[in-house]
This record gives sequence, structure tokens and C-alpha cells, in this order.
Amino acid sequence: MPRFDAPRSERKFSTSATLAGVPVAADVPIECTVYPDDCDAFGHLNQASFLRLFERARWAALAAGPGMDAFERSGAWPAVRKTTIEYLQPVFPGERLRFALEITRLGHTSFDMRQTVRRATAEGVVAAADFVFVCVGTDGRPVPVPAEVAGYFGARSPRATTATQRHTVQGVTLAVDVSGDGPALLLVHGFPLDRTLWRSVTSTLTGWRRIVPDLRGMGLSEAPDGDYTMAMYADDLAALLDALHVETAVVCGLSMGGYVAFELLRRHRDRIRALVLMNTRATADGSDARARREAMMARVRRDGTGFLAEEMLPKLIAPVSHETMPEVVRHVRMMAAGSAPHGIVGALAAMRDRTDAGDLLATIGLPTLVVAGSEDQLIPLAEARAMSDAIRGAHWAVIPAAGHLVPVEQPVATGRVLREFLEALPQT
Ligand code: MLT
Repeated sequence: MPRFDAPRSERKFSTSATLAGVPVAADVPIECTVYPDDCDAFGHLNQASFLRLFERARWAALAAGPGMDAFERSGAWPAVRKTTIEYLQPVFPGERLRFALEITRLGHTSFDMRQTVRRATAEGVVAAADFVFVCVGTDGRPVPVPAEVAGYFGARSPRATTATQRHTVQGVTLAVDVSGDGPALLLVHGFPLDRTLWRSVTSTLTGWRRIVPDLRGMGLSEAPDGDYTMAMYADDLAALLDALHVETAVVCGLSMGGYVAFELLRRHRDRIRALVLMNTRATADGSDARARREAMMARVRRDGTGFLAEEMLPKLIAPVSHETMPEVVRHVRMMAAGSAPHGIVGALAAMRDRTDAGDLLATIGLPTLVVAGSEDQLIPLAEARAMSDAIRGAHWAVIPAAGHLVPVEQPVATGRVLREFLEALPQT
């Protein structure tokens, strides 16, 4: 049994109730310090303490949101039915851990929650856990999940349909969601995002084997230290297709994911059956953009990734999404807060150094769809249109009322244009 010698105030989790003045929900990471008495004889955080910390993090999230008495008030008690934990890295006394919480399935009386633990200051996921809860009343019978709790944790989170797989390729372990049967569709997220960018859209693409990885350094994938390159990301993905026994895939990349798709074209063209370039550009960074990347890299090295969400959100999504879609804002914040500093710095270096793909456009020679958001503030519509015009036979689609992140801002419309394109592809 862990001892509770330290004053309680020192031991408790710290949460930020506001981020740059904006009230935030459960997607703000919750941090705690590991104490020596949480650890085993070898100095590792022990399994029982880990479970306790997961539970503490849930209480801290409630305290920061609807209140620790939310369940008591509603007469419902969340009973854990099942827990699956992956311990990925050892943790030692004195380290600060950061917990992120997300509801991955919301039923009438039950819900699933994923908790991910990282070091607060360094790279890598140290553990990830999936919990199944059933809400029960005082008589022990199932009762509905309290609306305010579900709402706070993201009631509209789409149902998780897959368990996240892990594959080690090129010396780095990548997290990937694989769902469905049929021809392969590889969806590549942008920056500073992760595979959950595609969740709402993938649920509309039945009949396809949807392969949705976290790029190295992002989301739940490992984040090795050092510079990353677009070639590295592309080689990772080709190796991931090998690991999944996939010969060719339709490749869809959003923004930085599009830069990776261009590199896949250069290096692994035979693996690509068709291409979707979404909210992306072919041109390389100019000197101003390179200087901005350098400044951001320095800031992440100095301050961590906490500032990214607030700084980038206004540019990532359209003002109308910001005003009317709190769940989208929450989701983007969660993605932006979720990656390790090494991964973010690596991605910035890869984008800074990427090669101009202008010359590639005329040589693509594959069925291609270019998708733009009508309100994209990062890639002007005219630039996306010019890129589409430079690709022989490219299909062009504009998603209305969406900014740079069309799959989360307008998943239904985005799913529709993707499906129409995919269904019209020649059979292989
Ligand atoms: C992205 O969404 O992936 C980034 O905004 C791309 C970039 O910064 O060039």
C-alpha cells in the first residue's frame, strides 16, 4: 500500500482551469508527480500506483469540470467493468506525468474511456489504458450516463470502432488504427495533429480497409529525438504498409500529410493507387516560413507544447467552427496538446526542409482528388485550385463552411467527396 506521508496539497494533481484565459474541458492534460513510495524495489512506478494515478487523474478531471460530486448528484456511479493497460516505458520517482482523457464510446448506461500518460516534459507515451465503465444506481442496476459528465468529456466523440495497433518499423513504434475490409485507404494527418483527425470521416467509409497511423513523434507513436524528414515519414508509412501486408493504397494526406504524400510519390510511387491532397500545398517553405518554423522549434524546446493549441487554433479552423462547434475546438486542442515536444520539433524541421513538389504535379499520372476548405486561412483557395489545375485530370472539391481541418469541421461533406472519388476509381 502506498503511504500518504506528504501533505495532501503537495500530492494532489494540478490542473489548469483556463488556457490563455479560455475555460477548458477534460482535454487539458492533468499532471502529477511520481513519489518514491509509488515505486517498487527497482525504483519503477509500480502497477498498483499506476492504476491509482489513472483513477486520480479521472477525479482531477471531474474536479476541473463538472465537479467531483457530479456522479453523486446524478445518483449514478461509474463502475469499472474492464481495464486494458499497455505499459510502454518505465517511470521513476520525481518525474511528472501528464494524463489525457477521452471518451471513445458513449452508450446509454456505459462508456469507454482512453487515458494516455506521457512525461510532462519529454518524449513518448509511457502508458495507455482503456476502461469500460457501467453507470449503476444505488441498487446496483445500470442507469444512464449523466449528461453533464458525458458532455464534459466529449459526449459527441465518435464511437471508437477499432483497437489501436502498434507496429515497429524503421526502429520506431507507430500507433495505427485499422478498420474495415476492402481496398486499402491510408489517411495521413497534418500538424500538430494525430490520427484521430480522421475518426468521424473513417466511420463513413465502409467497404475500405482504413489505415490511420500517427506519424512518428505524433499522437501515440514513439517520438525519437533528432531531426525528422519527409523521407523518414514516407519510409515509415511504406514499411507500415509492408507490416500490414498491403501492396497498394489510396493515399490521402491533409496539409503536412499531403507533404508526406508527395514524398511517398517520389520514393514509393508503386505503393500508391490514387491520391487525395487535402488542405495542402505543393510549394516548399520560403525564407519567412522557415524562420517561423525555427522560432516555433525554439519555443517548443524552451516551453514545451502547451502554447500550440491556442496559437494555432484560430488558423486551423474556420471562425464559424470556432464559434459553433465546441467539440471540434476541444478535439483540436486535445490533438495539439497530445504530441511529445521531440515529435513537434521533428515535424517542424521536416516541414522546414521539405522539397518543393511543384515539378511533381505534372507527373503524378494517378487518379487525384484535391480538396480545399472554403475558409482555409493557411492555404488560400486560389493556391489549392492552382495546384489542382496543374495535376492532369484532377478532381476538385471545395468543402463549404470549413477551414484547414475539413475532416473534423465538416466530416459528412468530407466523407461524401471522398466516397464519391473512391467509388469512381478503376477496379484493380
Ligand atoms: C498542417 O496543418 O499540417 C500544417 O499547418 C502545415 C504547415 O504548417 O505547413
